[in-house]
Amino acid sequence: MQLSWLGHACVLLTGSKKILIDPFIEGGSVIWTSPDIVAVTHGHEDHIGETVVLAKKTVAVTEIAKYLTSKGLAAEGMNIGGTIIVDGVSFTMTPAIHSTGISNGESGSIGGAAAGFVITFDGVKVYHAGDTALFSDMKLIGDLYHPDVALLPIGGRYTMGPSEAMIAANFIGARKVIPIHYNTWKKIEVDPLPFKQAIERTTDIKVSVLQPGETIVIDRDE
Ligand code: NI
Ligand code: MN
Repeated sequence: MQLSWLGHACVLLTGSKKILIDPFIEGGSVIWTSPDIVAVTHGHEDHIGETVVLAKKTVAVTEIAKYLTSKGLAAEGMNIGGTIIVDGVSFTMTPAIHSTGISNGESGSIGGAAAGFVITFDGVKVYHAGDTALFSDMKLIGDLYHPDVALLPIGGRYTMGPSEAMIAANFIGARKVIPIHYNTWKKIEVDPLPFKQAIERTTDIKVSVLQPGETIVIDRDE
């Protein structure tokens, strides 16, 4: 599987299917990608992004799925703790401690709960934490789903920052961690290198600090 960080929380997984998570790029467009399935962690503008314009089959919490269905999209609704298989790809919705609301929906649109995903296909398990604070049940996500890769927000202010994300990485136990949701704007400016160095000094976890648009290969048995 190839994993591309497109910036902010937007990640493209390419293998037997193309899965696009949280299709938002600051100042840019993700329309050039043609995913099979879009997964949306929550309703905030910097996550739901261009989901409606992309008009692809979408996996989201039931309230967002209803909103997307009203816009004519094929949306698969689910909720935290559940797992669904869509076109051979497994989506498990995980908790996130965060607020939500459909930012670009009609005023008063409700966004359900904020969430994360464990997405499994081609034998690789990817955990995208969404926007979240640190919570100790991340240990359960590690114990239950054994993700190969964890995408963790480190930007602070709206999510956990680097020191909390270090503990999250230990709770989850994925062999690779990729920091996301930082340096998009001044309010979430963070240097990811001390985070990388601190984790790699004290654990066997590898931290891949990517540039927006950069792609890495995640092997099944890396
Ligand atoms: Ni958010
Ligand atoms: Mn966000």
